[in-house]
Amino acid sequence: MTHPGEPSDAPDASMPLVRLAHFSDVHVCLDKYRFGMRDLFSKRTAGWVNLRLLGRAHRFRHADQALRALARDLELRQPDHRVFSGDASCLGFDEEFAEAAEILGIQRFPGIAVPGNHDHLLRRTVSAGMFERRFSPWQEGVRLDKAIYPFAQRVGPLWLVAVNSSKPNALPWDATGAVGQNQLDRLARLLDQLDGGLRVLVTHYPVRLDNGKPEWRTRRLRDLEKLVRVAEEGGVALWMHGHRHHAYHHKAGNGLPFAVICSGSATQTGRWSYGEYTIQGNILVARRRLYSPADNLFIPGDSFTLELPRGLESPLAVT
Ligand SMILES: [Fe+2]
Ligand SMILES: [Fe+2]
Repeated sequence: MTHPGEPSDAPDASMPLVRLAHFSDVHVCLDKYRFGMRDLFSKRTAGWVNLRLLGRAHRFRHADQALRALARDLELRQPDHRVFSGDASCLGFDEEFAEAAEILGIQRFPGIAVPGNHDHLLRRTVSAGMFERRFSPWQEGVRLDKAIYPFAQRVGPLWLVAVNSSKPNALPWDATGAVGQNQLDRLARLLDQLDGGLRVLVTHYPVRLDNGKPEWRTRRLRDLEKLVRVAEEGGVALWMHGHRHHAYHHKAGNGLPFAVICSGSATQTGRWSYGEYTIQGNILVARRRLYSPADNLFIPGDSFTLELPRGLESPLAVT
């Protein structure tokens, strides 16, 4: 029982409600890759070795089937908005993006998408905006200085704010990300300009691991501390991400100014799941949905509740 003055984790039924579907790391792979000369001397070769020789292809051998089941489940569940936190592809090929976008029906359903490190693998495909072109319907929003990132989408009582934390890296073992000072500056200004509503940051890289420790040095977001500071000052209440392939979450507190949810991979064998979040006021009720290969569909999994910091929430959120 909740006493006056104590926090309650029961949603306030008078507040507007929004339902998000959060999925990530679908890693569409092609049966055959056509490598050009430039690919042979690029990060794609290291990615191919990882894919074919180090087990990634085996871990994602049923990805196509699971992704199609995910699309069917989303059509049935009818969330208000889809949130994709990156790694649509294995090697950043346009054919992979096209297949992921087509199966997910991004032309037909509202959503938001950010690239993962596998999507922004090469400088030339990033410059060409390959991921962004295929996912353009999920990249509409309020943005500054005509820059692609960050951008913000109003979804009912929320602001979803997309930040690109992925970047190409030259060295084979380097899977680090970075937001960059220019994007950080724009993010601070964008958060300053948004009107009321809970702010939710959507990005690929995690804040911390499941056990609370920092991400490995070769896999971490290089300017994490700066991004956390900008997000905190901008009143971010929730950080949604992927990159790690198992699902976990952290509540706000204990050094975290906002709650964090990693959706895990929707298509990796044995880990396949996605999150369905109902947010009302500052209460988030999450229900995980797990892929059942025997049934070829997603079935209910565990659930949890998070109390989100109110941050810069204004009366707009209660209209
Ligand atoms: Fe991934
Ligand atoms: Fe990743």
